[in-house]
Amino acid sequence: MSTQFKVMNPATGELVKKVNYNTKEEIKQALENGHCAFKKWSKLNAHTRSKLLKGWSQIIQENKEEIAEVMTIENGKPLKESLGEVTYATSYIDWYAEEAIRIYGRTIPASTETKRIVVTKQPIGLVAAITPWNFPAAMMTRKAAPALAAGCAFIVKPAEETPLTTMKLIELAHEVGIPKDAIQCVNGKGPEVGALFTDSEYVRKITFTGSTPVGKSLIRNSADTVKHVTMELGGHAPLIVAEDADLDFAVTQTILSKFRNAGQTCVCANRVIVHESIVGVFSEKLTEAVNRLKVGNGMDEETDIGPIIHEKGFLKIVSQVKDAIEKGAEVLLGNKYNADKEQGYFFVHPTVLKNVDTTMNIMQEETFGPIVPITTFKELDEAVDIANSTPYGLAAYFFTNDYKVGTYLHDHLDFGIIGWNDGAPSGAHVPFGGMKESGLGREGGSEGIEPYLETKYLSIGHYDQ
Ligand code: SIN
Repeated sequence: MSTQFKVMNPATGELVKKVNYNTKEEIKQALENGHCAFKKWSKLNAHTRSKLLKGWSQIIQENKEEIAEVMTIENGKPLKESLGEVTYATSYIDWYAEEAIRIYGRTIPASTETKRIVVTKQPIGLVAAITPWNFPAAMMTRKAAPALAAGCAFIVKPAEETPLTTMKLIELAHEVGIPKDAIQCVNGKGPEVGALFTDSEYVRKITFTGSTPVGKSLIRNSADTVKHVTMELGGHAPLIVAEDADLDFAVTQTILSKFRNAGQTCVCANRVIVHESIVGVFSEKLTEAVNRLKVGNGMDEETDIGPIIHEKGFLKIVSQVKDAIEKGAEVLLGNKYNADKEQGYFFVHPTVLKNVDTTMNIMQEETFGPIVPITTFKELDEAVDIANSTPYGLAAYFFTNDYKVGTYLHDHLDFGIIGWNDGAPSGAHVPFGGMKESGLGREGGSEGIEPYLETKYLSIGHYDQ
């Protein structure tokens, strides 16, 4: 078996670096070390933990350019997006550095005079994380920062496509004094490391961002040791444009939502559902704006849309577009590809499809690519039915200035994140997560630290009364 894996540049197909796989024994040892480190880290006072987290954030910012370059080279996203992601990543550390010193307990009035009741919070233990390639910095800090703030030890397995960004961030954490075993990185194949994490008696929580099938298997495998789980899984976001919407604004926000990281995000708009009376104008305006986006190597300043991460992702996109066209979709823009399997790069030009309907795969399965399928609705109920018609429930967007329409959509859409006239609702200060098969639990905001804490209730009896 190979002892190393290759990190490739998805824009050129060139080898970036060979990285060592950790052996099974090394990973088991790391888990034991994490468990031991937890005992010390959790006893450190919250203000010290907070200061160390602030130091981590600062040193990442000081190395922002270097980290962003590494990210673009291994992930492919435009450099301007990588720079944005570094700041997004530190915003989680900043937020949870502040939350570390605000983990409060409570007292509860007892039912008799002879008792006192106190409720405290304590860190859950060693947390094992599996993080995705699409946001190699922010998805890791979104988990590590609340874990460390709460007093948990943390171990992460980054995606094999993009381990370098994560490894750099962990190195910087150690540089500012966060103990080596309190935050660790291990590299290996997903299923193998996943099994070591879920089987380990030391791990008390699994946190995962990635596909729904993998999330389901991690949940199943965590059952035997009753681990806590947080799952941020697939999405298939609807974006509804109501009859009264400001179309120019809706177009700008649709682009913002759809094309970040070449459409390879869980929250990006995947199904654009437009009122039939305005679909012509909206599609025209959108196509015109999308046509201005530049496809290329993320290291070029001009680039808006980088490559697709790998062939598997590319083939899925191509097959969804083909299926939609065969079933009657009209191509307004795109359906153009610049791919070379031998060289190892796969670019998809932004594509706008009209006359899409729910029989097409693109309306049922997550796309993870720069494709905008447009369908129509007449009555609001119909838009809600289309939006809710998949097992996913992560993010949904709608554009309207009509209060009644907006509140109706908010009440009836089964999604954990809703953007009302907002194509970019993510942030460290808000609870991010999905309903239905899009996940369990929330990350970010004050909600995001709770999953790393246990509640302990103490009842004190007064024996002298
Ligand atoms: C994701 O797509 O998984 C995360 C995107 C975000 O945090 O905005």
